[in-house]
Amino acid sequence: MKLKKNIHYVGVNDRTTNLFESTWSLPYGVSYNSYLIDDEKIALIDTVEVSFISEYIDKIKSIIGERPIDYLIINHMEPDHSGSIKLIRQYYPNIKLVGNKKTFDMVDGFYRALRNEDITVINGSTLNLGETTLQFYITPMIHWPETMVTYDTTNQVLFSGDAFGCFGALNGAILDKDLDTTLHLSEMERYYACILGKYGKTVQAALKKVGGLPIDMICSTHGPIWHQDKEKVIDLYHRLSCGEKQNGLVIAYGSMYGFTLQVAEAIAKGASESGVRIIKMYDVSRSDTSQLLADVFRYNGLALGAPTYNGDLFPAMKDFILKLVSRETSNHKLAIFGGFSWAGKAVNIIEKYNECMKMELVDEAIEWKQGASPEILLKAKQLGNKLAEEILQK
Ligand code: FEO
Repeated sequence: MKLKKNIHYVGVNDRTTNLFESTWSLPYGVSYNSYLIDDEKIALIDTVEVSFISEYIDKIKSIIGERPIDYLIINHMEPDHSGSIKLIRQYYPNIKLVGNKKTFDMVDGFYRALRNEDITVINGSTLNLGETTLQFYITPMIHWPETMVTYDTTNQVLFSGDAFGCFGALNGAILDKDLDTTLHLSEMERYYACILGKYGKTVQAALKKVGGLPIDMICSTHGPIWHQDKEKVIDLYHRLSCGEKQNGLVIAYGSMYGFTLQVAEAIAKGASESGVRIIKMYDVSRSDTSQLLADVFRYNGLALGAPTYNGDLFPAMKDFILKLVSRETSNHKLAIFGGFSWAGKAVNIIEKYNECMKMELVDEAIEWKQGASPEILLKAKQLGNKLAEEILQK
């Protein structure tokens, strides 16, 4: 699949892995993108997950036949992209790896004894392939410390690593203009929330670093090639990384006997009566956490409620909050609620976690013993009203 005169897509689709990083659901699969630049010198940009090596090599050979590859440019060392390095070097023994100092620390660590007159680049280094000149920008923590992006100064193509990537395999077409990108844009938000959600500041720094470059095409390591919609995805990344949100409320609750759910429903009713139109309810015991996280990154209102369990916070809520704490989830209006049977701990524990999350509490938490009384449900509805006021004032 040719993207430009001498740039070819040689990535693969993974439609069988259930969990990305053994953690995040893949209902629509995922692609591992790699690119081949066929110039006087031939360069491969990133590789694919190792179990696809046979298909991958076939794709490469269908373009260059038995000619050797001169360079393998490594933008990112996570094994979904670096996994085939060792075998690529067996197929192409004279290939030179191109990466930065941290890349090669990881090449040594993950794959051992692979070095072969490799090329270490720094920010701004260039590599000439003939007609094509590549320039490297070091962009740490997108999403590992060694990450860099490669800019083709001749064709104005940005090979962006995980940045601008998304879940979702490529069903036939690979260029945005040839497919309906609605799903991929939504999957980009979910990917960001799950994979890059901790790194908003470094994403902002990277966007600044490459912000002045004329870009015709963005080639990331996952999902479509962005050409027609490149401004849209750059804008999406700006919004996600600086914490800009839409008006909406996510209510995440855990409920063993239905009482916390009753309170969650009353909060939803109050918020709805006061004008919030987007209200998403998630049972933390039964929901896909990645979808929940994506919505937390989309909307500016959040209500967290769960019971006390064994003198601690209800386990599914604790797991979810730990994922929130380890991400940059700024600009939220927050409400907290939770019941207990004989000794209350849940509300206090959520409040403690919020000292890290630093979300803006809209009112005092609602806490109750045993069943949710009519008074508690009225308070919950009023809390929903209050949340709505705060959500909609933005
Ligand atoms: Fe797609 Fe961070 O690897």
